[in-house]
Parts: sequence; structure tokens; C-alpha cells
Amino acid sequence: MAVITETLEADAAGIARAAKLLYDGRLVAFPTETVYGLGADARNGEAVAAIYEAKGRPSFNPLIVHVASLKAAEALGDIPEAAAIFLSDGWPDGLSLVVPLKPNTGLSALVTAGQSTVALRVPVAPIARALLLAFDGPIAAPSANLSGRISPTTATHVLNGLDGKISAILDGGGTSDGLESTIIGFSDGVPLVYREGVYQVPDGMARLTSAKGTKVQSPGQLASHYAPLGHVRLNALTAEAGEWHLGFGDVIGDRSLSAKGDLREAAAGLFAALHEADDLGKTAIAVAPIPEQGLGRAINDRLRRAAAPR
Ligand code: TXA
Ligand code: MG
Repeated sequence: MAVITETLEADAAGIARAAKLLYDGRLVAFPTETVYGLGADARNGEAVAAIYEAKGRPSFNPLIVHVASLKAAEALGDIPEAAAIFLSDGWPDGLSLVVPLKPNTGLSALVTAGQSTVALRVPVAPIARALLLAFDGPIAAPSANLSGRISPTTATHVLNGLDGKISAILDGGGTSDGLESTIIGFSDGVPLVYREGVYQVPDGMARLTSAKGTKVQSPGQLASHYAPLGHVRLNALTAEAGEWHLGFGDVIGDRSLSAKGDLREAAAGLFAALHEADDLGKTAIAVAPIPEQGLGRAINDRLRRAAAPR
């Protein structure tokens, strides 16, 4: 879906325009002190789905939620006491914290990839702060590059990958730190470094490693164990006895991911549908075929994991 990408100056008018676009469910790239983020309203599932679409991400990796203040962060996640050592001087430059997600925050389940944790960050860069204040809500933003490419530190880098795929970019020149945020999570209340980055981690803090002992590139993938309780069968045009059928397009099912066959709508509602299966106590779930293109690849990736033998 080609759009004209507006380049907005990072002045009051540009910030107001960017906030309005976010409010309307559109994608806006913006500079933080680390790298440029590809922002969407974190409460709008279809807008969040559009992030994955624009980046061409083949899987739903959870996204960092950017907020304006510690107070706003506390409204979304349970910040553990052990986080106090990082926050004594306010939220520091280039730090994201993965914490338990609070109930009923209004965040799209796609932001957390259906997990029970959320990555939170309060940027210190003035333009990012101004945008968050103008928008007055949580902004989900991965780095504003195509999937598999290098994180962008200038507006030109962003446009090289995403021109024509996003509604606007707030041009704030080069980012000051030029590297992604450090991501720190908690295990039994003890801080654990998920990803090294701008924020300098105190000596001796444990690092997250994979089962093979190698450094984890994408911590969210490792953590995304979420699968419904019921057995999942894919590419089901019809349901068998006892199956709850998730439809798509012409395949109606008991509940449709998108009756009009819209992949963005299907992505936005995917995790809610899987959770609903659990809530309804379904032991067998059949899922209609989802086209293996665009967002369909990420949807199918998630569904294949849900269907994998456990
Ligand atoms: O500096 C940055 O961190 C930039 C700016 C825009 O904030 N963002 C960024 O996002 O680098 P992204 O999506 O490219 O990388 C975020 C990483 C991913 O590896 C993801 O798996 C991990 O954060 N992550 C997000 N939420 C998580 C969660 N709940 N649990 C574990 N890992 C998570
Ligand atoms: Mg990235």
C-alpha cells in the first residue's frame, strides 16, 4: 500500500502533525536519543499490525512501548523494586525495561506478542518527548528499518527503507547516541541484561543467554512461548467434530480473524482470538488458511508455533 511519506520538521507544527497522524492510526518515524523508531499508537491493533507490515517482519517480535514519564510507565507495567537502581535520577538515556504487563492497560496484544511482559522506555531526546506529550499516549516503536537491516540514525536512513510505506517522518537530524537502547528484564526480581546498548550496565550484572550459551539477538523471540492450551490444526477449510474454528475471508468459522480477508485486521486480533480459545476452554482449534504473503507470513509463523507439538 503506497502512501506519500511526509517529511516533517521537528518544530511545533511538525510535532502536532505527527501526533495527529498517530492518533489517526498512521505510522510516523521519529528520532529518539538512540535510533529512529517506527511509531504507532500502541493501543491501536491495526496500526501496530501496520508496523510489522511496513518493516516486512516475518514474525511478531514484541515491541518497545515509549511513554512520556515514569508515571505513564507505571500505568502499563509493574516496575519491580529492583528497577530502582536504574531510575534513581529519573529514567536514564537509552534504557528499556521489560516488566510484567498490568491488566486492562488498553495496549494492543500485538505490541507484547501476546506475552505477559511489556518493554517500556521513557526517551530523553527532546523531540521524542515532545511527540509523546503531544500525542498523550503510549507509542509502540521498533527501530525504523526494514526487517534484517541496520537501525537508522538519520532521517535519510529511515527513508531509504521506508519511503512510501509510512505516513511521515519527523526529521530531527542525526540521533545523539547512534545505538539501540539497552534492554533489561527481571528474573525473580533480579535484573538481567537482555540486550546491550546505550545505557551502561553496572559491572557484574547477569546477561540473558540462550540454551546453547550464546548471546541472544532477539530476546523477545526467546521469551515468546505463548501458545493456546488447545491443540491447533492449520489450513482448515472446515472444522472437525469438537474443533473451534477460526475463520478468515470466505472461511466463516465460529469466529473470524477477518471476514473481509484483511491481514491487518487478522494480525490485530490474532492474540485476542488465541486467548479467547483458552478462556472458552477450547481443547481443539482449527484455523482457516491464511495467505503466506505480507503480514500473513508473521501470522502463519505465530500459528505454526502454536500448532507445533509440545
Ligand atoms: O533504541 C531502541 O531500543 C529502539 C528505539 C526506537 O526505542 N527500538 C528498538 O526496537 O531497537 P526493536 O524492536 O528493533 O528491538 C526491540 C527488542 C527486540 O529484540 C524485542 O524482542 C525486545 O526488544 N523486546 C520487546 N519487548 C520485549 C519483551 N516483552 N520481552 C523480551 N524482549 C522484548
Ligand atoms: Mg531493530
